[in-house]
Amino acid sequence: MTAVLKLGGSVVTDKDRPETLDGPALDAAAAAIGEVAASVRPSDPESLEPADLVVVHGGGSFGHHHAEAHGVSTTSGTHDPEAVLAIHGAMTTLNRFVVQRLREQQVPAVPVHPSSAGHRNSAGDLTLPAGQVATLLGEGFVPVLHGDGVAHVGEGVSVLSGDEVVVSLAESLGAERVGVCSTVPGVLDEQDDVVDRIPAYDAVEDLLGGSEATDVSGGMAAKVRELLALEGTASIFGLDDLPAFLAGDRPGTTVG
Ligand code: IPE
Repeated sequence: MTAVLKLGGSVVTDKDRPETLDGPALDAAAAAIGEVAASVRPSDPESLEPADLVVVHGGGSFGHHHAEAHGVSTTSGTHDPEAVLAIHGAMTTLNRFVVQRLREQQVPAVPVHPSSAGHRNSAGDLTLPAGQVATLLGEGFVPVLHGDGVAHVGEGVSVLSGDEVVVSLAESLGAERVGVCSTVPGVLDEQDDVVDRIPAYDAVEDLLGGSEATDVSGGMAAKVRELLALEGTASIFGLDDLPAFLAGDRPGTTVG
């Protein structure tokens, strides 16, 4: 059983301070993943084996800051190599930290950089080959990918969000479980209660309505839209619920 887990950038970094980790949060996430890596229960089909997990992290205070500074988003790119290096460089720095913290918890984590293989056509549609990720999984590793820059026909290089990486990989790998660990315990309604299930976008249009769309990759509205494109369901939950997700539960909001 393959699971794809996104660690939101604002979960693992301090979004208010450029290029600053949220060390305790990252350690908590790494420890939860380490627990699963250490407790293989092959007799329980709902439990994960170490080789079954792909981790993708977002940009937080590493990627977004540089993308905004250079006016780059998922739809609007740049032809300035310095901008590309700044965005990709910040994301690979964060990726090194994430891999390192996972290694400290004995997770067999190895980095994979999406910009080396991904590309968008002129309509913005993403192609992200997954052969290396599938092979690494088969060899017992936990591949750790991230939001990045991506070659984009007619735009130069645009932002590739971690959510897009999650959706693309989940489809290519036929992942049975998709989880997005966020700073909120799920999609919240007007009363700040967690919405249990979002079967379609029109069910939450009033709630989300693109209000968080200042984010270079579109905030919660874009996240939900992306996840609805999946064949199966996905869970959006907070850090406290990460152990539950990894144990096979569907905490937070189920999308799809
Ligand atoms: C953004 O990825 C990547 C860059 C800005 C290069 P995400 O959009 O997935 O990041 P978070 O999780 O919202 O921080």
